[in-house]
Amino acid sequence: MRVLLTGSGGQLARALQRTAPPGCTLVALGRERLDVSDRGEVVECVATVRPDVIINAAAYTSVDLAESEEARARAVNGAGPGYLAEAAGRACRLVQPSTDYVFEGSGATPLGTDAPTNPGSAYGRSKLEGERAVAERSNGPWMIVRTAWVYSGDGRNFLTSMLQQMGSGTSLRVVDDQLGTPTSADSLATAIWCMVEGELGGIQHWTDDGTATWCSFAREIARIGLELGMLDSLPEITGVSSSERRTPARRPGYAVLDKTETWDRLEGTRCMPPVDWRENLRRTMEGLTDA
Ligand SMILES: NC(=O)c1ccc[n+]([C@@H]2O[C@H](COP(=O)([O-])OP(=O)(O)OC[C@H]3O[C@@H](n4cnc5c(N)ncnc54)[C@H](OP(=O)(O)O)[C@@H]3O)[C@@H](O)[C@H]2O)c1
Repeated sequence: MRVLLTGSGGQLARALQRTAPPGCTLVALGRERLDVSDRGEVVECVATVRPDVIINAAAYTSVDLAESEEARARAVNGAGPGYLAEAAGRACRLVQPSTDYVFEGSGATPLGTDAPTNPGSAYGRSKLEGERAVAERSNGPWMIVRTAWVYSGDGRNFLTSMLQQMGSGTSLRVVDDQLGTPTSADSLATAIWCMVEGELGGIQHWTDDGTATWCSFAREIARIGLELGMLDSLPEITGVSSSERRTPARRPGYAVLDKTETWDRLEGTRCMPPVDWRENLRRTMEGLTDA
């Protein structure tokens, strides 16, 4: 299987490279080699690489900045997937990661793949535009994988930024009224490979299991960090409401994705069932202490 992976320096792309199955020839290209918002570059690159699968891990992910740079976000997240869909042709499978931000997030029950979308931010609108471009412009097999709250042990993400702030003794005020599921980039990447191997199509949902707020996520990081000797003491963490912690972009209040359908289709493959987020968090943090 020959796989073209875009946005190779990003968090998910790095996890996909770490977890790539044996026998997979991965052509991983960063923005400097392939700018997905450039139609000409996309067409030329796909014609040269001739992949069986394209995983588009390239994205504009600056959620707050997107409010003032919507055109840029749309070029990368909206137009880019459309160019890849056209270039992929009939034989190549296109995998497009997407996000809980396509939902308004005002509900209180897990969001199924057919739940109505209604993004409340420029980033969410750009990602929904990308989903639609893939569904409408692909001539071959395609799959959209929505996920949420992704972190890993390297790069800049919620886990690494919390550890850094906690290590410096800063007292933290963390939003405690948004619900979602912290998801390890490696567990997501492994699930994506299983979906590719199982030739899943359409819209899929994948996160780790369980529910958290950003504040309970932070407290768990602190608890495990102390236990593993990464922190000297428990930092002071105060839960605050979204209205006290205003950001340019509106975030979904409820972003728990229902993975049942996706898991039903993966059961019996080498894919492990979704693991409780605390377990994967511990595993990721243990990996940091081994490093
Ligand atoms: N992180 C999360 O919590 C989360 C949650 C839900 C869904 N997702 C989705 O998961 C996917 C991967 O996200 P991530 O967390 O890995 O994001 P990330 O770490 O920001 O990685 C995105 C990568 O895309 C690259 N990129 C930006 N513009 C590009 C362009 N025009 N052409 C080619 N590459 C470009 C970036 O390069 P530069 O660094 O040079 O800009 C970066 O390496 C995205 O589709 C995102 O929407 C992420």
